[in-house]
Amino acid sequence: MTTPGSPSGRPGAPVPTGVGRTALMVAAARAAESAREEPLFADPYAADFLAAGDIGEETTDADGASKIWDSFSSYLPIRTRFFDDYLLDATRTIRQVVIIAAGLDTRAFRLPLAPEVTVYELDTPEMLAFKQQVLDARGARPAGHRIAVPVDLREDWGSPLAAAGFDPSASSAWLVEGLLSYLTPEHNDRLLAGISDRSAAGSRLSIEYLHVDAVALMAAAVTGESGTEISAMWQGGGVAEPAQTWLDRHGWDAEVFDTHERAAAYHRELPPLGDSPMDRFGDTARSGLVIARRH
Ligand SMILES: C[S@@+](CC[C@H](N)C(=O)[O-])C[C@H]1O[C@@H](n2cnc3c(N)ncnc32)[C@H](O)[C@@H]1O
Repeated sequence: MTTPGSPSGRPGAPVPTGVGRTALMVAAARAAESAREEPLFADPYAADFLAAGDIGEETTDADGASKIWDSFSSYLPIRTRFFDDYLLDATRTIRQVVIIAAGLDTRAFRLPLAPEVTVYELDTPEMLAFKQQVLDARGARPAGHRIAVPVDLREDWGSPLAAAGFDPSASSAWLVEGLLSYLTPEHNDRLLAGISDRSAAGSRLSIEYLHVDAVALMAAAVTGESGTEISAMWQGGGVAEPAQTWLDRHGWDAEVFDTHERAAAYHRELPPLGDSPMDRFGDTARSGLVIARRH
């Protein structure tokens, strides 16, 4: 099994595999964006994760994989910037942040959060161990407090979050980015119920929403062309209801943003309609970037 180097020279935490590998792909997009002129954000740690992991194949593979990667690599920076802006705005007043399926998200380190803000990062034990090792090797320090909470999001994640110090009586800001396609509609619904149960008045929630139809179209677009490991994980994932209906049922007022519209707001362009596998599911009924407030 591949292991990244560690400063002590001892073997390190294993490089994430399976669904965990998808976090490295997102880090690849963040590293590329950070190296651009006039980037939408700067993630100074993304390249370290890539160096410690071993990413490349998925982004440069022939035909379908590279085509969908072209789509994703122009979309992922839009998504990252959108959620950066959301968290900066939410933490002007809210003091606890929960990042669900944090992966290699480094917002706790790279955003100018107030020192009183605590960021809880939930992901698998394997992912959090790999991430910690890379951050430690860089000497990274969070802006406020950061607490890693190893969990399986299909099981009881609320008890470990409570044990880590999360206070459900205080308002909170939640983020769910790049996850829904990997879980079934039932798991996603239970996840949102769990978030809602722990969200006091004034809480906020931001989600990358994907309807089951969007996930199916996305999987078909990839498997039809090259059949990657990632698309196999998308089968049967997503949410069974429109975003607003789903969130309203769980007690949230939601606003859904169109990704092309957001890209234009950031003076970026996504591949034109019809040119990209992303556009096969790219209307807001099927996918979008959501910001919600607790009723
Ligand atoms: C595509 S990555 C997104 C990571 C991060 N939110 C981002 O956008 O950079 C998906 C993440 O979901 C996590 N994940 C998937 N299923 C999970 C589960 N059942 N329990 C905990 N984490 C899970 C993976 O480990 C991975 O870090």
